[in-house]
Parts: sequence; structure tokens; C-alpha cells
Amino acid sequence: MTDLINEYSMHTATCGQLRADDDGREVTLTGWAWHNRDHGGLIFIDLRDRAGYTQIVVDPDCVSAEDFARAEHVGREDVLRVEGRVRLRAEDAVNPDMPTGQIEVLATSIQMLNESVTPPFAIEDGIETDETTRMKWRYLDLRRPEMYANLKLRHTVMQAMRRALDERGFVEVETPILANSTPEGARDYIVPSRPNPGKFYALPQSPQQFKQMLMAGGVERYFQIARCFRDEDLRADRQPEFTQVDIEMSFVTENDVMTMMEDVLHEVFAAVGLDLPVPLQRMPYATAMDLYGCDRPDVRFGMLLHDITDIVRDSGFKVFASVAQSGGVVKAINAKGAGDWSRGDVEKLASIAEANGAKGMAWVAFTTSGEEKSPIKKFFTDEEWAALKAEMEVEPGDLLLFAADEPDVANAVLSALRLHMADALDIPREGHALLWVVDFPMFRYDADEKKYAAEHHPFSKICDEDMDTFEAEPLSAGSYAYDVVMDGYEMGGGSIRIHDPEEQRRVLRVLGLSDEDIDSKFGHLIQALSLGTPPHGGIALGLDRLVMLLAGKDSIRDVIAFPKTSSAADPMTGAPNEVTARQLKEVDLRLL
Ligand code: AMO
Ligand code: AMP
Repeated sequence: MTDLINEYSMHTATCGQLRADDDGREVTLTGWAWHNRDHGGLIFIDLRDRAGYTQIVVDPDCVSAEDFARAEHVGREDVLRVEGRVRLRAEDAVNPDMPTGQIEVLATSIQMLNESVTPPFAIEDGIETDETTRMKWRYLDLRRPEMYANLKLRHTVMQAMRRALDERGFVEVETPILANSTPEGARDYIVPSRPNPGKFYALPQSPQQFKQMLMAGGVERYFQIARCFRDEDLRADRQPEFTQVDIEMSFVTENDVMTMMEDVLHEVFAAVGLDLPVPLQRMPYATAMDLYGCDRPDVRFGMLLHDITDIVRDSGFKVFASVAQSGGVVKAINAKGAGDWSRGDVEKLASIAEANGAKGMAWVAFTTSGEEKSPIKKFFTDEEWAALKAEMEVEPGDLLLFAADEPDVANAVLSALRLHMADALDIPREGHALLWVVDFPMFRYDADEKKYAAEHHPFSKICDEDMDTFEAEPLSAGSYAYDVVMDGYEMGGGSIRIHDPEEQRRVLRVLGLSDEDIDSKFGHLIQALSLGTPPHGGIALGLDRLVMLLAGKDSIRDVIAFPKTSSAADPMTGAPNEVTARQLKEVDLRLL
């Protein structure tokens, strides 16, 4: 990145650039007083800007009495302009951990540009200040070097993304924020329209409909670094507004989209100094669910799920036998290294299982001293026990954890336990692991709503071989959808889209929409499909998640300049806010 020195700036060097070679140079620095120390007549000030920090020495013999008095009263976060001369530090004062640690600047003048009141928390990396406080004074938080580094990393990723897509013929197009509802599965943020009383815009959950319209419009290759809005339960990897790198292409197959995306990601990783080997592994959805219990597997460690239904089907342990005989599954993981855990510690894990829907959590511990501890061993024959140990590749020191339930529940339980045990056992999860999860089902059954829902979204194309049967057997239908998974997170997802108007209607009908609903909500799309929309497909990457993982953080809030709290509020600006009665009246609304 270029430095900050040009004809417009108030300084001649940044606080991060001076080295031993600059010895003797007359410089002017600007920045924030970071640390200051009074050492018997000499005052030392660390002056910080976004490029780094430099030690300033204020010697009463080298500055005016007025400037010296000013230096004595410099406080944290005062904004200063310092003129002085670079000099080498005495050998015993060299700081090898500091990029500018070879030198210091002997001040000849100190100017106070803006005095600061005492900041509410320290501007340091690794602070323990609670996050709401950091968000209330976000501008102070952003002064911390690690936060600036996150913003800069995000910038680098965005620029690399733009460059790579531009080179491949993608055209960046902006799409509306005041839009209509899109079925991405979350609640909409709605905005009343003053000229249309009683009518509302929905902020887009993604630009999905617009990018398909751009394909209908002949744009062929589109991308956008797009803001998306979803009113859903917030988590560390979910914000109410977030950013997608949104992409769509015409005349392509799913293989084309995935290959293009791999190449672009390879370039983006290279821009941040990482090698991403491509092509990426492609794992069928069914395999991900069988082995990892989830569709966003962290493949950086093992501890795979084993299906032991057949081994326990006829066992004397009623819980397992009845689940196995009634169409459920019994699965287990082997947490190597936890075999000596106390019974109390093991049983605490049941709360994780229960939070994921389990009715209980059976376990067997194989201690390093060769004991077998378990409340359930007595229910098994020697043959069953031997088969279980062989399947689970048991050794002393292992802990087996079981889930017997419907496949979805058993998978969710063991997936959560697997990740928990990896953390608890300090299993290394270093570097990055990306893969495709492919062959997604088209539909899932939403038990709460008692209807079918699209697993991805209703515009994904159904696999050719399921085209005649998907209405009769929705849960067996596959789709040309794919997710890119990074380090156990869903980092992106996309699909080849339906481009046939009748096929689109059929899919929407399976979701329970009447023809009137289809026409009123999706009439524009169906019409476009009947007016020469080319075959097309695309993908959207979650930029916040990608940058979070590259930055080694565990919350996307750390890579968003002004994020929201878990209750979707901004403690700095106070948003969301009340509005005046007059504003409400203008949009024809009254609060209940
Ligand atoms: P999807 O809903 O899978 O697909 O979203 C794509 C990616 O966006 C990220 N993401 C989020 N990031 C932060 N906070 C959120 N609340 C949030 N929700 C999603 C994830 C996810 O993989 N239109 C389709 C894409 C397509 O089919 O081309 C879509 O939006 O990383
Ligand atoms: P019970 O005989 O019901 O007390 O259960 C014996 C053991 O099996 C306990 O450790 C329970 O936590 C466990 N258990 C009960 N239901 C299940 C289940 N569905 N899956 C796995 N373990 C279970």
C-alpha cells in the first residue's frame, strides 16, 4: 500500500516507516500520543498512526520552554504534530520487536492538533473490554492496530476479488436496496413507502432476483459486492446486514461456476499471501452428513461419525434397539484422549447433546489403564461389544459418545459434540481447509410450518433425473446446488437456476404456493423466463465470513467497521431509534 505522504499531508513521514537509514533526516510526524513517559528531564512519547509508531524524545535543550511544557502534559490520544530529527538509538535502547525500534525522533517542536479527554478504554491490542463498550466508541476501537489490520485485510480481499472478476469479464452492477421480498429463508426488513400508503419495500436478503434479471437482460457475467439484509437470530457469524460477493453467469454448468470460483479464490488467497491448492475437494451432501453430521464440515480433523445401527439393532439396550428398529439411526464418535475424563465431566457433555435435540447421551470410556467404564456396557453381548470396538477403532484413552435418534437429530448432536471435543481436547485446527459440498437435496420438510421448503432457494434447478418425480417425492429430488465450506463455516453457496417458466411454477407449487401467489410474487421472474432467459447459475460468497477466517477471528463483528450487537442495535449511533409522530403519519402508520 502506498504511504500517506503527498502534497496534501501535514507530515513528511508516517509513524511506521523510519529506519536506521533515515538517521539524520529532518521529519514531521503526525499521530496520536500512545504511551508517554517522563524519564528524569527527558520525555518519551510513542506517537502512533495507522502505519505504526515511533518514539519521540523531547529534550528541554532542543525545544522551546513552551513546547516542553506542552509535552509534559501530553495525554493519551492527544493528536500531535512533531517536527524533529531522526537519530539512532543507543545500542541498549534498540527495540528489535518494533519496526521503528532502531531509531527515535528528537523533537524540535511539538504542536497540539487536538487534545483528547481520557478515553474510556485502552487503545491496545488484546484488550478485554466488553464488546458493547467497544462498539459504543467504535472509532476508538478502530484505532487499535489489530482492528485496522482487519479493515485493511478486508480491503485487500475486496480489491483482489474485484480484480480477479474484472479480468474474467465480469461486470459490476449495483442492484436496488429498496426492493421486494426474496425467499432466502429469513424475515425481511421492511420500509414503508410514503407515496404508496400501506405499501412496503423489503430490503433484499440477497440480490438473487436481480441477478437473474441481469442474466435475462443479457449481461452474461455479473458481480457485485452487495449488502444483504436479513432479520434472523444473530450469532457470531451472522449479522442483520452483511456483505456478499454476488456472482451470476449465463451459459454455464455447475462445474463452470465452481471452477471459476476456485480460480478467483486462488487469486484472492495469493493476494493475502496464502496458497490455496485447487481444484477443491467435492463432497456429496450425503457424505458430509454421514461422516460429519453437518453440511459444513470442518475437515481439518477426524473424529468422524460412525453408524452403528446394525451392530446394536438387536442388542439388549432398549434405547438403541428401539430407535434402530423404528427407522432411526444410532451413531457414535470416538473422542481420542478423553478416556480418562471423570464421569462428572463426561456427563456434562449431555447438556450439549440435549441442546441439539438429544434425549440422552450414552457413553463408554476406555481408560488409559485399560478399564472400560460405561452405564450401558452390561446391555451388550460380547460379540456386539467386540463389533462396536472394532467399528470405532477403540484404543485405551478413548471416549465414545452416542446418539440414537432420527438421522437429523443424531447428526446434529454428534456434529456439535465433535466440534466441542475438538476444542476441549485442543485438537489442532490450523491453516484453512476449503471444499465444495455438492448434490444438495432440493427440498426439506419444515415440520414447524408443516410444508416443504427449499433447501437452498426455490430458483435452483432440479436434477434432470428427478424432473418427472419431484412432485410425488420432493425429499428424494436433488438440485444443482453447491456450497463452498471453509474451516467448518458455510462461506458461500449457489446453484444452477431454473430457466424454464413451467419448471419454476412446478417448484413453487411444491412449496405450497398457489398460482395466484406465484403470479403476484414471482410473476416478473416467470415472465422473464418465458422471454428468452438463457441457462444461468451463480454463487454468493459471505465476504464477512471469508475475511473473519482469513483474519483468524471467531466473530464477523471484528471484520465489519460498524457492526450491530446481538439485538441488532448500534450502540454508537443509537440505531434503531424512535421516529416522530409526524414521520409515522407521513407513511400512514400508527404504533400499536
Ligand atoms: P445464501 O443464503 O447461502 O445464498 O448466502 C450466501 C452466503 O452469505 C453468507 N451469509 C451471511 N453472512 C453473514 N451474516 C448473515 N446473516 C448471512 N447469511 C448468509 C454466507 C452464505 O454462504 N442468493 C443466494 C446465493 C446464490 O444462490 O447465488 C444466497 O444468498 O457465507
Ligand atoms: P436410560 O436407560 O434411559 O437411563 O439411558 C441409559 C443411557 O443412555 C444414559 O446415559 C442416557 O443418557 C443414554 N441415552 C438415552 N437416550 C439416548 C439416545 N436417544 N441417544 C443416546 N443415548 C441415549
